[in-house]
Amino acid sequence: MTPHIESRLPRVGTTIFTVMSALAQEHRAVNLGQGFPDFGCDPKLLEHVGAAMAEGHNQYPPMAGVPALRERVADKIEQLYGRRYDPATEITVTAGATQAILTAVLACVHPGDEVIVLEPCYDSYAPNIELAGGTVVRVPLMPGSFRPDFGKIAAALSPRTRLLIINSPHNPSATVWSRAEMQQLAELLAPTNVLLISDEVYEHMVFDGAPHVSASSLPALAERAFVVSSFGKTFHVTGWKVGTVAAPAPLTAEFRKVHQFNVFTVNTPMQHALARYMADPRPYLELPAFYQRKRDLFRAGLDQTRLRPLDSQGSYFQLVDYSAVSDLPEADFCQWLTREVGVAAIPLAGFYEGGFEQRLARLCFAKQDATLELALQRLQKL
Ligand SMILES: Cc1ncc(COP(=O)(O)O)c(C=O)c1O
Repeated sequence: MTPHIESRLPRVGTTIFTVMSALAQEHRAVNLGQGFPDFGCDPKLLEHVGAAMAEGHNQYPPMAGVPALRERVADKIEQLYGRRYDPATEITVTAGATQAILTAVLACVHPGDEVIVLEPCYDSYAPNIELAGGTVVRVPLMPGSFRPDFGKIAAALSPRTRLLIINSPHNPSATVWSRAEMQQLAELLAPTNVLLISDEVYEHMVFDGAPHVSASSLPALAERAFVVSSFGKTFHVTGWKVGTVAAPAPLTAEFRKVHQFNVFTVNTPMQHALARYMADPRPYLELPAFYQRKRDLFRAGLDQTRLRPLDSQGSYFQLVDYSAVSDLPEADFCQWLTREVGVAAIPLAGFYEGGFEQRLARLCFAKQDATLELALQRLQKL
């Protein structure tokens, strides 16, 4: 008989993402629930992968990542955000942002430490903290606007707070923190020893000419921050699972202790390919315009429906208020929409512990125009 395991994560079950994707497939719905592109990446990037493999870059790379890629990332951060990280001691290549965040949490959270997350939030944060033996302290973003509530964050800080996790541009609300908000955070944390994970996977998807304010661009935040990026999001290759963490040398040293016994290294040919591809900055500099066009096309169509789109300042997500259509709870509404209308969406309540009903659903517009148009045709019948 298989011995019983006492679960390390007893409250984790099948996620709403899996449920909705299965339902979308069963009902052949247009899947705007899944947060990844239904289009390919730049063929040049694929050519670089083939070339890297043919050249023999197929064995373990250095533990911290291929040096050329770390160099490119350091250059990019310096050019865009004004801080120079040392590629040798301050940049680490990870298996996507997901591993980066878990590794950073495991590197600095001890049992009994408190970690503040701002809800709604990405679903890996809380289980990561629990695996480290930490206590999750949930602070809501302001309902309606999803702006940070600094009064509530200040009230949640305690002598046991070890870490705060922020995410801008934000999944799922599509808000982008302003420089004033980042500065307010810096002032709040200045008298504390609290570390920061700044999840910036959507850094190149900020719209309407607004800047992405990276934690690396404010010295007072950068000195305490693990800044997390994802090539998967930026270059339309989410399945590759390659990301980076930039952090001051003492934080990186602790990060790498965990990283080397966690994944040790990340796949080699992709790192070489990404390094070569990044010689040209245009793909990431042009990304805001690329996604803004999709956002605008999608929102123009949504304006012809009874769904009310909220602001989408960044990321590739769009929240919609469906209260004019239905008073079903969010999960029931999204299942109904998938089955009866043929469009899959994610209930916002799925991003809150214990759920929080606001009659909001998350749609993803990282899709081909034809996919968005088909979804809009269906939503216009609502
Ligand atoms: C906010 C946020 N953080 C992290 C990730 C994970 O990124 P990666 O695919 O690089 O692991 C995602 C992916 O959806 C995300 O939305």
